[in-house]
Amino acid sequence: MQNLTVANNPICTITISRPEALNALNRETLQELKTAIQECIDRKEVKGIIITGEGEKAFVAGADIKEIAQLSKENAFEFAKWGRDIFKQVEDCPKPVIAVVNGFALGGGCELAMACHLRIATENAKFGLPEVSLGIIPGYGGTQRLAQLVGRGKALELAMTGDMATAHEAKEIGLVNHVVATKAEALTLAEKILGKIFKKAPLAISALIRSINAGYEFENFGYKSESENFASLTSTKDFVEGTSAFAEKRTPNFKGE
Ligand code: CAA
Repeated sequence: MQNLTVANNPICTITISRPEALNALNRETLQELKTAIQECIDRKEVKGIIITGEGEKAFVAGADIKEIAQLSKENAFEFAKWGRDIFKQVEDCPKPVIAVVNGFALGGGCELAMACHLRIATENAKFGLPEVSLGIIPGYGGTQRLAQLVGRGKALELAMTGDMATAHEAKEIGLVNHVVATKAEALTLAEKILGKIFKKAPLAISALIRSINAGYEFENFGYKSESENFASLTSTKDFVEGTSAFAEKRTPNFKGE
């Protein structure tokens, strides 16, 4: 695997490793994540999973903007659906999955953290859905999971402003479970929590994950609507302006076209 390191047994730690792009998720990384999660599910000796980002600056800074800038209305729906299916695979993993959020968790990064069963953040972590600054909306289930975790009002405020929440603000609104000072402490706490879970009946843990997730029916209208809206926005002039502005490191000038 090129953009992922995987350390095993009985906790599999998956580290997203594209530091040159603040661990942004391109297609290759997503495919590797899909394979790594499936291997964790299949391998009996793996009892739980930690997902984190390489380094101290970023968990995952989102989908790879240079890649999504190439999307067209024709392929954007399938692109978004493919990504959200991978995050659904994380959410539905029958073994506990903890996100250790060690820095920026923006856009697809925040969406990945939200697809995990628990989130432990370091003090420097920042959470947000800044897609509106690019002329799009989240595409990997973020519109649904953010509202599920923090409620509709807070979700709308965060996603419409594109603001970043600090780790403590994220904890206050229920977006993260715990905040600790350093990545090492976050990993230790994740291991401690997983250790507790490992002492419980594995079939009961899997059934619990299944049952709680069943209450949020994945193929509901919200997720489909998100993919459709994400796709249709990729044909707007504002999307071209938003992604160009990011590449050129300037503020976008949106016209509502
Ligand atoms: N995609 C591709 N490259 C990215 C990236 C991303 N999401 N985030 C950062 N990078 C790259 C930058 O382009 C930069 O590369 P260069 O050195 O080649 O210029 C490098 O990572 C370092 O980033 P910055 O120089 O911008 O670092 P900073 O400390 O000044 O800012 C940041 C950090 C606030 C996180 C800023 O990088 C940023 O705003 N990133 C984009 C966040 C974002 O908009 N995420 C949402 C993506 S869209 C999405 O996720 C859609 C979806 O749901 C499917």
